[in-house]
Amino acid sequence: MSMDSKRCLATLFGMMYVVLLLQKVSGEQEPPVLNPMFIPPNLAIGDMTELSCTIKRGNLPITFKWYHNNHPVSDTQKYKITNSKIGSQFLIEKIMASDIGNYTCKASNVYGEDSKTESVIIEGKV
Ligand SMILES: *[C@@H]1O[C@H](CO)[C@@H](O)[C@H](O)[C@H]1NC(C)=O
Repeated sequence: MSMDSKRCLATLFGMMYVVLLLQKVSGEQEPPVLNPMFIPPNLAIGDMTELSCTIKRGNLPITFKWYHNNHPVSDTQKYKITNSKIGSQFLIEKIMASDIGNYTCKASNVYGEDSKTESVIIEGKV
């Protein structure tokens, strides 16, 4: 190997090293990863509750969406959704029979998404 190609190779590896270093410094590019969703147990009709969805890791900004039995739900008179940078709270002021079912929290950023689904079960009902 000539002196020139050795120098060229060294330069190439040097550049690759710098690129890897820059990637390390600028941080990982991670889709959101959610914690298990929390739903209080033993709820009854007429109770109030708040479902909590929080992020364990992932690049910000993160967008949150809620679904009830796979239908999107938005902030209404009945439901209040409060978002923070790393989480979303879904408040039900007064649980009705129609609120029973599966709730999904979906979190997404530019790299991907994650979702968690939990059931709101009413004591004494199936
Ligand atoms: C909720 O999810 C469970 C488990 O996937 C399913 O068996 C059940 O039918 C769902 N309930 C509703 C109301 O969609």
